[in-house]
Amino acid sequence: MIKFDVLSIFPEMFSSPLNFSLLKKAQEKGLLNICLHDIRNWANDKHKMTDDAPYGGGCGMVMKVEPVEKALAAIRSPEDDSLVVLMTPQGETFNQKIAAQLAEKKQIIIICGRYEGVDERIREHLVDREISIGDYILTGGDLAALVLIDAVSRLIPDVLGNPESTLGESFSHNLLEYPQYTRPAEYKGWMVPDVLLSGNHAQIELWHRRESLKRTYQRRPDLLKKIKLSAEDKKNLEKIKLEDI
Ligand code: ADE
Repeated sequence: MIKFDVLSIFPEMFSSPLNFSLLKKAQEKGLLNICLHDIRNWANDKHKMTDDAPYGGGCGMVMKVEPVEKALAAIRSPEDDSLVVLMTPQGETFNQKIAAQLAEKKQIIIICGRYEGVDERIREHLVDREISIGDYILTGGDLAALVLIDAVSRLIPDVLGNPESTLGESFSHNLLEYPQYTRPAEYKGWMVPDVLLSGNHAQIELWHRRESLKRTYQRRPDLLKKIKLSAEDKKNLEKIKLEDI
């Protein structure tokens, strides 16, 4: 069971995506606990301000340190086994490996940045990890937090119906998945490859591996450097490269 505590100034943004499908079921089964917190609840002025103008001038507003510090003090688990993550385009780029590391935690507190940035003292003193979901700028860290919650939650044991389903998937082994087909075997003359209809499981397994290699070579050749290729893989890859010319 993982507990996510999300600190946001728009907690309402989260309710709909978290209330469908596997994430909803996981919460109902007690495998996942997601608590949404409005940072404004820890703002100390009468206008509930969570941002202010930057010292030294400049455009835009900066997220204040005080409400975030107070919120963390209230939310952090007493056993001190929580991880505090700041969603920011300046963070390390999120990937399957980071998702697997986070899935080992008991409590993950996510700070969703907004405005032009956050007071640097939040980074220096309160945050364990800064994470970006890619090289583009969102209107805030909230949607990024949802992506992270989704990717981590599906790795919690029993959240997916079939535990095998994360094993062979792309990025856990740095190979993209082979093409998949389902009925009918022929549609408008578009055929399913014969081998998949053959019932010959050994042949099918070889085909899966070859097609995974081919797809990875064509779309993400950078990933091939990260995996250990068997002699058979290397032979297949040479053939794939020749076919590609
Ligand atoms: N906030 C704004 N853009 C972001 C991004 N790409 N990743 C994480 N948080 C963000």
